[in-house]
Amino acid sequence: AIDISKLRDQSGYVTLDIGYKNTGATKSAITFLDGEVGILKYRGYSIEQLAENSSFIEVAYLLIYGNLPTAEQLQAFEFEISHHTLVHEDMKKFFDGFPSGSHPMGQLSSLIGALAAFNPASLKQGLSAEEVNLEIIKLIAKMSTIVSWIYKKSLGHPVIYPRNKLDYVTNFMYMTFGQRTEDTEIDPVVVSAMNKLLILHADHEQNCSTSTVRIVGSSDANLYASISAGISALWGPLHGGANQAVVEMLQKIKQDGGDVDKWVAKAKDKNDPFRLMGFGHRVYKNFDPRAKIIKKACDDILEKLGINDETLEIAKKLEEVALSDPYFVERKLYPNVDFYSGIIYTALGFPTEMFTVLFALGRLPGWIAQWKEMKANKEPIGRPRQVYVGETNREYTDIKNR
Ligand code: ACO
Repeated sequence: AIDISKLRDQSGYVTLDIGYKNTGATKSAITFLDGEVGILKYRGYSIEQLAENSSFIEVAYLLIYGNLPTAEQLQAFEFEISHHTLVHEDMKKFFDGFPSGSHPMGQLSSLIGALAAFNPASLKQGLSAEEVNLEIIKLIAKMSTIVSWIYKKSLGHPVIYPRNKLDYVTNFMYMTFGQRTEDTEIDPVVVSAMNKLLILHADHEQNCSTSTVRIVGSSDANLYASISAGISALWGPLHGGANQAVVEMLQKIKQDGGDVDKWVAKAKDKNDPFRLMGFGHRVYKNFDPRAKIIKKACDDILEKLGINDETLEIAKKLEEVALSDPYFVERKLYPNVDFYSGIIYTALGFPTEMFTVLFALGRLPGWIAQWKEMKANKEPIGRPRQVYVGETNREYTDIKNR
């Protein structure tokens, strides 16, 4: 790769790569992925090993600080996070103003942006490493509380305050699904599935939302503003919004009688804008390793919870038909991380509109790690160039004469 950022040639030449399909924006030591082979590693550890053995909060530590924590470091990290799970009560007034039925992602991006306003200390320029770290801890802690608020609002239920003796994911599931009694037990099977999903979503190098976080942060915008922008980028159905779109598509196919071939044909029809949601990826031209893990987790959790979900059968059939179809084979279109994740979220009890919010909760440590790395590298403000193709030299005409 040639590092053209060192060139100071102002002669008018720019590299044009719309959609940044082959443009490296940074050097990063966080996540490695090889889309041709289907390999994903965080800080050198394979996603398979982490999903099998780790907890989400341990992976968050790994991504943000670079190494797996010792038992003591992990305990201290969890302890600090658990002491910042409360969200300012005035944030609730703001939150209460959202009409019932407002989209959870709209709520999440504005609430996370609002955290900056509620933390004026975070806006100071030149924060010390300790001060930055405190904001990171606060953000991780408050994000889970806010996500649970959003779910409770969708039901019209009162929010549940955190129970800080619980670990991060159990506490999140308690605030989300618990009743207002101290004896609410959260099923460890559910916690384990949630941990796995969050780990699988925790980072994915320079995707659309992560690049957004880095580029917003490169203007020296604060952490909350940068993450809020990332949440907005994640919302789109071509990115994180795909998990909601997948389940909606599977439900539609089910209602339509389950004729998978018909829907595959529709996805191949160039006159039809329909695409198979959860299929294809900008970087993976092989199986998305996360999709393999999720598919298995999906089978496991549905069996453990004794759920028979027809949409899972449709998803598997769809995968089978598509993977043996030359259209998908030639274009190297495989199921991505979103193809099966929504089925697990449904099994855990989440409504479809919450799926992308859960993706955001999982992606948070990755966004933070990338933001921190961008700052540590002292990267310049992100500012792409363009090739101008508009009008040249027009004379202004008075409005009466147009
Ligand atoms: N269904 C049908 N055809 C598809 C699909 C699909 N899901 N995805 C790509 N194609 C076709 C395109 O029509 C195009 O065909 P052509 O060469 O005949 O024109 C070819 O495959 C290449 O597709 P592009 O859109 O150029 O690929 P790109 O890398 O730009 O897009 C993307 C990747 C956005 C993920 C795309 O595959 C897609 O829209 N998938 C469905 C949405 C989805 O699942 N998004 C989640 C991505 S994962 C994530 O963000 C966590």
